[in-house]
Amino acid sequence: MELVRELSDYRQLKAEIENLKKEKRAVILAHYYQRPEIQDIADFVGDSLDLARRATEVEADIIVFCGVHFMGETAKILNPDKKVLLPEPKAGCAMADMATKKEVLKLKEKYPNAWVVSYVNTTAEVKTVSDVCCTSANAVKIIEKVPSEEVIFVPDKGLAYHVSKKVKGKRIIPFEGFCPDHYLFTEGMLETLKQRYPDAPVGVHPETPPSVQDRADFVGSTSQLLKWATDPSLEAREIIVITEIGLKYQMEKKNPNRKYIFPTPEEGVGYLLCSQMKAITLEKVYETLKEEKNEIELPQEIVKKAKKPIELMLEWST
Ligand code: 13P
Ligand code: SF4
Repeated sequence: MELVRELSDYRQLKAEIENLKKEKRAVILAHYYQRPEIQDIADFVGDSLDLARRATEVEADIIVFCGVHFMGETAKILNPDKKVLLPEPKAGCAMADMATKKEVLKLKEKYPNAWVVSYVNTTAEVKTVSDVCCTSANAVKIIEKVPSEEVIFVPDKGLAYHVSKKVKGKRIIPFEGFCPDHYLFTEGMLETLKQRYPDAPVGVHPETPPSVQDRADFVGSTSQLLKWATDPSLEAREIIVITEIGLKYQMEKKNPNRKYIFPTPEEGVGYLLCSQMKAITLEKVYETLKEEKNEIELPQEIVKKAKKPIELMLEWST
């Protein structure tokens, strides 16, 4: 009886959100790491590059951004005249918070000829002192286009490792940042999964540590992992995927004929789960949209400066 009531509350909530979206001319953008029910209510689900691109095309008055703070900031920078709402204002990215503007300026002083390439997982302030941004989907392409030989790469040392393996003729100067969820996944944990599923190919996100990347069959961003793992031409019944558990939902939707093995306690390793991404719930989306609260606000000066590296990234990645 309780379950029936919960289900009808859930359907009711989804219907209310749909009504509010129409009434307020709002769209919902969501990252693949969001809870399944949030991905279902979204008008668009994607990785951070897809979401940045989509944010430039939005015609609605309000963007409800279901992701972490830097993603909402990017949408705001690209749409300064629209209301961008973050259903959980405290949802931050621990890696983005590892780099400060001051530290980047210090590195610039040390390497005056280097371009600063910052992962979109940075604060708007850090973007103001960056030459170009990148995401995990286009980092290789962007760095190949950078005119300098030296590149200061902020803040992810996992992605910096991936790029240095792929791009020839450039010196990558990595920052010491990392994702506490991806980077703490170890080679030993991968071994546990490989022993359980010896025939399964392995796909990993480039935020994982070098030793994990080196043992993978494929390294890619969330959308690249989705494409690779669900490709019907890949001969595999089971696939090991090392990234946040939220992506499993889209994989199962896109190609349900496969088993996707993500790190979970049932598989003998801990969850790879971003608690900040999971902090957004349907109730918070409803309240945020109804009251038009939790708006992202940025000083004009920051928007103006941070827009340049993001726009250059979009231009270079088409
Ligand atoms: P993507 O660029 O693959 O969306 O990754 C963003 C992110 O925060 C991964 O932890
Ligand atoms: Fe940031 Fe890691 Fe969460 Fe991605 S998974 S948003 S890098 S803390």
